[in-house]
Amino acid sequence: MLDALIPWYTTHARDLPWRAEDRTPWGVLVSEIMLQQTPVARVEPVWHAWVRRWPEPADLAKEEPGEAIRAWGRLGYPRRALRLHGAARAIVDEHDGRVPSSYEELIELPGIGDYTAAAVASFAFGHRHPVLDTNVRRVLARAVSGRRYPPNATTAAERRLAEELLPYDDAPTWSVAIMELGALVCTARAPRCRDCPLTETCAWRLAGSPEHDGPPRRG
Ligand code: ADE
Repeated sequence: MLDALIPWYTTHARDLPWRAEDRTPWGVLVSEIMLQQTPVARVEPVWHAWVRRWPEPADLAKEEPGEAIRAWGRLGYPRRALRLHGAARAIVDEHDGRVPSSYEELIELPGIGDYTAAAVASFAFGHRHPVLDTNVRRVLARAVSGRRYPPNATTAAERRLAEELLPYDDAPTWSVAIMELGALVCTARAPRCRDCPLTETCAWRLAGSPEHDGPPRRG
């Protein structure tokens, strides 16, 4: 299902530096923390400055935490800078300065939650792990479950669905494609269904695009 996603992504994806062929695990980790609460356009210049100044976790780990805060600029939620600094020190102390590759090791790092561990395992290391951010959850809610919005907090049913849908070949591309569709087309308030590669099979469209979700479906 959702076979049209990857072909759509191939022609419509934004050219973002943390997705480039020469991306590093550390660059991906920095990007995922920055992107959690800040839009791409504001993240890009600060991300470039960070990875230029601190190309490896060890480079940041040597600094005082205050330097990380200062370099955070205007991204907002500056505690994230401290989380990255703490993660860099743990990567140096526990992993010889190399970002670990498995979800299980990543989630053990301080300040790294489920989303970030899944995103880094997937986008930096190519592992097959469901990546559930708000964009992905919204696309699944609409295209598969026929609801305008996903539940407030991620449910076990959403995790099961994401796991079931994830292809065995090139899961990371599928994940970034569904994320990009949610960011660019299947947006929260004004989805551009005419531009959507899933529109013909989208359960929410087929239900008449109801504004408000009805009562939970049984069974
Ligand atoms: N590419 C990979 N992860 C991303 C994210 N969180 N936001 C935008 N683009 C991304």
